[in-house]
Amino acid sequence: MLFDVQHPGKEDKNIVELGMVDKVEIDGNKVTVTLAFPKRRDPLAEYLEESSKAAIYRHAPEGTEVEIKTVIRNAGEHKQNGLDMDMAQLDNVSHIIGVASGKGGVGKSTIAVNLAVALARLGYKVGLADADVYGPSVPKMTGTEDQMPEAVKEGDKELILPIEKFGVEWMSIGFFAKQGEALIWRGPMACNALKQMILQVKWGVLDFLLIDMPPGTGDIHISLVQDIPMEGAVIVTTPQPVALADVEKSVNMFRNKNIEKTIFGLVENMSWFTPAELPENRYYIFGKNGGLEMAENFKIPLLGQIPIVQSIREDGDGGEPAALSSRPDGAAFVTLAENLVKAVNTAE
Ligand SMILES: Nc1ncnc2c1ncn2[C@@H]1O[C@H](COP(=O)(O)OP(=O)(O)O)[C@@H](O)[C@H]1O
Ligand SMILES: [Mg+2]
Repeated sequence: MLFDVQHPGKEDKNIVELGMVDKVEIDGNKVTVTLAFPKRRDPLAEYLEESSKAAIYRHAPEGTEVEIKTVIRNAGEHKQNGLDMDMAQLDNVSHIIGVASGKGGVGKSTIAVNLAVALARLGYKVGLADADVYGPSVPKMTGTEDQMPEAVKEGDKELILPIEKFGVEWMSIGFFAKQGEALIWRGPMACNALKQMILQVKWGVLDFLLIDMPPGTGDIHISLVQDIPMEGAVIVTTPQPVALADVEKSVNMFRNKNIEKTIFGLVENMSWFTPAELPENRYYIFGKNGGLEMAENFKIPLLGQIPIVQSIREDGDGGEPAALSSRPDGAAFVTLAENLVKAVNTAE
């Protein structure tokens, strides 16, 4: 009977074929079906729940009671490890978006931090989780290195409160690096520490939660995208031709059939150099429009081009993100944020 329920968004394959039926429990005359959705807020979720209910009622004996529950995970994927991953803290987050790059040093954290601040400037409620365990840079870039997040007890759970600044909720493993390093990294928790930075945090009601992902496309990334209900990602690159292979790896990771996350777009960072004293001049140090060509190549939108500007680096080092400023580079981040919002809205 559940074979009769077709997903109109997936070439009308049925929900069983699509691996969306997580569990069917029968207790007396009560049938409980748990459906798994790969995305938070699947626009067709309600339709599929109702169709499943109707399909069972149609075939079941009279007096049968049907309940439909939902969980969020990738189709066909089951709990990966022993750690009981409680997603409750993400219930009030509308869009979880990874900021990824094939390799380090392309400005992924700079883009993530400034995108968060720019989204907040546009009036959205924003959080950023720094999952870059190799180089957590959010505390420095936001001038919050001397802050230590508080822990609160909620029922039997211990949750960490994010640090609030510039209208954004920040969480980073870097906050714990000095005092608590050994504690956080010891034993089997090491690999899950970054997931804690996302799941054990008492986030507010957020429109966007950005995740500054570790650079690369290895196991840690795959586990992160599978276990965290990320809706999609943006990929950061420089325009250099050598970056193409890294972008390709990232694109392939998100498009892998076990992952299947939307790529909202590509961000080309360090697109050109503009000296402060000659703001009209553009020097294409890493080549011109490499990002645009990559975006066309992989059929993903180019969300923005961010120039190399000394103040972006200085502001990053000084803990005052450039997106706060009214300079052209500040405006470039606001435009980038607007384009991301559009891309997220059209992907739904
Ligand atoms: N558009 C830019 N203009 C000037 N400096 C930049 C720009 N983007 C990044 N940087 C600088 O480059 C360095 C690496 O950036 P970062 O964001 O830490 O990269 P990643 O997170 O990819 O390793 C930092 O010092 C940062 O301030
Ligand atoms: Mg970084």
